[in-house]
Amino acid sequence: MTGGIRFVMGGEVVTVAHGDPIETVLQWLRATGRVGTKEGCAEGDCGACTVVIGEADGDAIRYRAVNACIQFLPTLDGKQLITVEDLKGPDGALHPAQRAMVDCHASQCGFCTPGFVMSLFALYRSSELPDRAGLCDTLAGNLCRCTGYQPILEAAERMYDGGRADRFAAAEPKTAALLRSIRRGGTLSVEGAGTRFFAPRDLAALARLAAEYPDAWLLAGGTDIGLWVTKQHRRPKTVIYLGEVAELKRVAEADGVLEIGAGAPYTEVLPMVAGHYPGFGRLIHRLGSVQIRNAGTLGGNVANGSPIGDGMPALIAFGAEIVLQKGGSTRALALEDFYLGYRETALAPGEFVRAVRLDLPRPGARYATWKVSKRFDQDISAVAAGFALDLDGGRVAGFRAAYGGMAAIPKRATHLEQALTGQPWTLEAVTAALPALDRDFQLLTDMRASGAYRARIARNLVLRFYLQSTGQAGAEGVAAHG
Ligand SMILES: Cc1cc2nc3c(=O)[nH]c(=O)nc-3n(C[C@H](O)[C@H](O)[C@H](O)COP(=O)(O)OP(=O)(O)OC[C@H]3O[C@@H](n4cnc5c(N)ncnc54)[C@H](O)[C@@H]3O)c2cc1C
Ligand code: FES
Ligand code: FES
Repeated sequence: MTGGIRFVMGGEVVTVAHGDPIETVLQWLRATGRVGTKEGCAEGDCGACTVVIGEADGDAIRYRAVNACIQFLPTLDGKQLITVEDLKGPDGALHPAQRAMVDCHASQCGFCTPGFVMSLFALYRSSELPDRAGLCDTLAGNLCRCTGYQPILEAAERMYDGGRADRFAAAEPKTAALLRSIRRGGTLSVEGAGTRFFAPRDLAALARLAAEYPDAWLLAGGTDIGLWVTKQHRRPKTVIYLGEVAELKRVAEADGVLEIGAGAPYTEVLPMVAGHYPGFGRLIHRLGSVQIRNAGTLGGNVANGSPIGDGMPALIAFGAEIVLQKGGSTRALALEDFYLGYRETALAPGEFVRAVRLDLPRPGARYATWKVSKRFDQDISAVAAGFALDLDGGRVAGFRAAYGGMAAIPKRATHLEQALTGQPWTLEAVTAALPALDRDFQLLTDMRASGAYRARIARNLVLRFYLQSTGQAGAEGVAAHG
């Protein structure tokens, strides 16, 4: 034990010395009397539990909205927690985000309102000044079933009327100093209710712990794992949190390769990925909600190995590899070779994903990726696909296609690839190759889509790729380089 979890709340350092390490932030808040934060779904979908986490960046604070219902309390160690109770000033004055909600009559039953306010607060404190589409995106992780969204969006626009300064901005140097005072040098270790929780701060410590506890849950953003606890009521003996390991959070470009640390949240990965692969950037932008992207990681998506995870089809089609580490040794593996069966991967006991590596786009090559789901926002794919194409004199010199939602694992469509390789890149040749897809997948029918629908979508996405790569349809989803 390292003396409990320490974080800043309400301008003071809070220490939680005892307790259950997989208690969620939401459960803790409500048990300790901060009941403004609500529980709607307990699975990251509705946003009623939205809180804001602040982290020091020099003398400034970076704020991000997260879902308290799937965030475990020890992940707050060394950070600032802001809940709806904190927004009102000592003189009772409402925060501009709250004031705008009142002025626009944007609250009716009120249950979702604290979550909306916290999402608006995080936006207010960010450097962005979004347009209407950006505001909708900010609020896509908050559901309101009674007032409708119009007045809430109006409030989002109105909250800037009085400028962009608030007392949180003024307090940043003081908050940063408090955060520095609780910064931990070594591994956080807490234990309770039959679970031990470690938060190592460097790769060496992580590798040692992973080797010592090969059955531990490796916790990154918790946007999958959180639900194992809140919905499946599972209890781990050991949790190793990856979110404090600085090396895992690096996103860097060197020697023509983009290396994405396995512990970097989507929000931090997005700008660099979108800069090189705009279509993939748009896809990540549709993954979950702001709250989910502020916590969840590509490393977690890849390691979780869900057949309907959104990251893998594009990564496999674009030729990504993953770097795995065990003890002091690392190995690189083509991502497509990582998946052995339904939720079964090549990860050895004690091993962890260190990074995802993606070559920068080849000059002249064309790339695309799409996600097809029932709703645009905050929904899981029925089918996701990624394509990469190299042409030589109008013929297909190289073609890779990978799909999610079509089999027990994310998988390449090798029959389709073979049928197209060497063919002219024409509508006739592409259409003639499509039946090869039937040999690539044994289609499943589930609540998201029927097998027949999936088969149709899989074919249509190839056609869409053809049309867009030849300039016959809009550029949405396609990145052509050269
Ligand atoms: C509301 C909601 C919406 C969602 N929407 C989408 C969506 O649109 N598309 C989509 O694909 N997914 C979606 N997800 C699922 C989830 O957000 C993603 O799979 C996410 O990428 C998981 O990352 P994480 O960091 O949160 O992983 P965690 O939950 O922390 O971990 C997931 C799994 O990966 C393992 N793991 C994590 N990091 C490592 C590592 N470095 N080495 C080894 N193992 C590791 C964990 O042990 C665990 O088995 C959604 C989830 C929620 C709750
Ligand atoms: S309670 Fe619904 S997102 Fe947390
Ligand atoms: S005000 Fe009630 S659901 Fe939004």
